[in-house]
Amino acid sequence: LRVAVLYGGTSAERDVSLNSGQAVIAALKTAEIDVIGIDINNTGDWLPLIQQADFDIAFLALHGRGGEDGTIQGLLECLGIPYTGSGVLGSALAMDKLKTKQVWQTLGLPTPGYCWIDASTDLEAVWRKLDGMPLMVKPVHEGSSIGMSKVDRLDQLQDAVAKASDLDSCVFVEQWVTGKEFTVSILNGEALPVIGLETNHQFYDYEAKYLVNDTRYLLPCGLSPEEERELQALSLRAFNAVGCQDWGRVDLMLNEKGEPQLLEVNTLPGMTDHSLVPMAAQAKGYSFSELVLAIIQAAKQ
Ligand code: DAL
Ligand code: MG
Repeated sequence: LRVAVLYGGTSAERDVSLNSGQAVIAALKTAEIDVIGIDINNTGDWLPLIQQADFDIAFLALHGRGGEDGTIQGLLECLGIPYTGSGVLGSALAMDKLKTKQVWQTLGLPTPGYCWIDASTDLEAVWRKLDGMPLMVKPVHEGSSIGMSKVDRLDQLQDAVAKASDLDSCVFVEQWVTGKEFTVSILNGEALPVIGLETNHQFYDYEAKYLVNDTRYLLPCGLSPEEERELQALSLRAFNAVGCQDWGRVDLMLNEKGEPQLLEVNTLPGMTDHSLVPMAAQAKGYSFSELVLAIIQAAKQ
C-alpha cells in the first residue's frame, strides 16, 4: 500500500493543515506504510504528481476551501483515484454552513436561528429578527473559527460583518447559544465518545483551538450516559443528512434548557496534536496510527 497525504492547501487554514498532514505522515511511517506527502500549494507543482498517481490512495488532510469543499474530491473522482472521507456532495454541502443549516431545518434537526447578510441588508432589521443580542457573525465557508465574532451590541455588528466579509463573499449571523459546547467525532458509521469544550475566551476561537493551552477538554464529557447517547445519535443523523461519509466531526451546543443546537459538520477535521477526533478515538482505544489506518480502510470499502 502506498499512500499520498494531500495537505497544506491555500485556504486560511493552511497552517492547521500542514500540522494535520505532518502528523498523518508521521503516523503512517510509524505503521511502516509507504507514504508520500504532497503539498497542495499555490504553485500547481502538485498537479502532475496527482495525475501520475504513483500511489494507491490519497489521504486528504486539507482544511477549508480548495480541499475540504469537494473540489479536490472532484478532481480525484475524475482521475479515478481513491481518497479518504466524504465525497463531492457531502464535502461541498458541509463547507457551506448556511446550506447545511437549511438541510437540517428541512429535516427538523435543531440549529440556532440565523440570517444571511449581504451588502444591502438592514442590520437593525436582522437584530430585531433574531431577537436581539448576542449574535455570532460567521463567514459561510470558513473553518477553525477564522473570521468569526461574537457581537453583544448593535453598533458592533457592522465591523463584525466587515471582518467576515474580508474572508468570504457570503456571511451570516446566527443566534448566540448560551450553554455548553460539545463535539462528536464520527468514524465509520459510529459516533465516538463526546468531548465537552470549555474555554476562557468568548468562544472556542482560533487561539483557543491552536495557540494556547488553557482550553479544557472534557472526556468523559460530563453528561449522563443517556444524554451522551442522544447527542451521538443526533450528530450521526446530522452528519448523514448532509451526505457525509466515513469520518468527520459534528460541533454542537446544549442550550440553557438542555436542548441540543447543531452548529456545523467538519468533513476533514483537524488531525494535529491539539485535535479532537484523535482525542475521541483514543478514548475508544485507537492510537493515532490506528485511527489513520481505520480512515484509509473505510475509504477502500
Ligand atoms: N476546521 C478544523 C480543522 C477542524 O474542524 O478541526
Ligand atoms: Mg469547521
